[in-house]
Amino acid sequence: ATVSDFSNWAVNTTECMELGIVTAKDTALFSPEFTYPLFGMHETAFGYKDLAIKILYTSGSLRAHVSISSTAKYQPSGSSSTADVSPVLADDVPGILKKYMAPDTTTNLDEFMHIMEEDLESFRPMGEKVHEYQVETEDGDEGDYEIYKCSFKDRRFREYHRRMQFFVLLFIEGSSYIEEDDEKWELYTIFKREKNGQSCTYHFVGYCSAYPFYCWPDKTRMRISQFLILPPYQNMGHGGNLYETIFSIFTQRKDVIEVTVEDPNESFSDMRDKCDLRFLQDNHGFDNISVPVPMDSIQELQKKFKLTNRQTQCCIEMYLLSNLD
Ligand code: ACO
Repeated sequence: ATVSDFSNWAVNTTECMELGIVTAKDTALFSPEFTYPLFGMHETAFGYKDLAIKILYTSGSLRAHVSISSTAKYQPSGSSSTADVSPVLADDVPGILKKYMAPDTTTNLDEFMHIMEEDLESFRPMGEKVHEYQVETEDGDEGDYEIYKCSFKDRRFREYHRRMQFFVLLFIEGSSYIEEDDEKWELYTIFKREKNGQSCTYHFVGYCSAYPFYCWPDKTRMRISQFLILPPYQNMGHGGNLYETIFSIFTQRKDVIEVTVEDPNESFSDMRDKCDLRFLQDNHGFDNISVPVPMDSIQELQKKFKLTNRQTQCCIEMYLLSNLD
């Protein structure tokens, strides 16, 4: 077989993967941002024609249904293999997905539909509700959202986290799975709450993980690690709401001296800058700030609002620039 024969059998895995969140009313479909954590740097699967990977999730419990289809699968010809060269085989796409997805993922559609029905009746978010807020939708309706604080001490949540963590591989650059045996992790989830007759149904929107680092002698530095809003819910204010909620929880804790972020990307930094700037303005952080800004004032602000030194300077700069005539 020649190289060009082989390239005919290579498929871009980011383009051929589709994700969907299924509710009783509809399915919101979206594409992964990247798939290299699963399929390697080149994001290709070898050995298929018209490969299609579709992963559907129940909107509440995030149970997944996987379907993989193709119109042809590569079969090594007998003549191309010799005794000491093993034949080229098609990539084991189901096996690769299995390695990263929750063990309760199904390929049985009937089972998936049954879980959907159960979800409607009985799925409830885990953990402690720490905040709720409304977001106005495009058609003018108010949507109700709740934020929950969860921990790996809760076995049910551990199981839930094994389902939702798959999204970080597809949407957060350079991310990897966190250690679920470490019970110090704090996880904050957002759910949409919908009235359903006398009861309510809940739909997963996004989440964030944070880790409390010990800071000598008796303080804590909170580090936001993974932060994700699912694509169907992005740019509606949920990221800002989640960030502001956890920031306010962390800063109210006496032991927390600083809130940091692990490898923020550009869109997270934009969101964070806007939120921090607003928070400082609302809390009169800039009342005594004028050029030139003495180091003492920066350190005072940093300490009071528990921001990093860099982020405090960044906010002061944005404030001064926005007040230029
Ligand atoms: N560029 C400029 N501004 C932005 C961007 C952006 N890409 N994204 C959000 N903003 C601004 C919004 O304009 C908004 O400003 P406003 O309050 O003045 O209107 C503010 O930030 C909040 O926007 P939200 O609608 O709340 O943002 P969203 O819910 O989409 O969440 C997030 C933003 C978290 C980046 C989301 O898009 C996401 O999950 N993306 C994919 C995963 C990701 O990149 N996660 C962050 C990785 S870094 C980390 O995990 C630490």
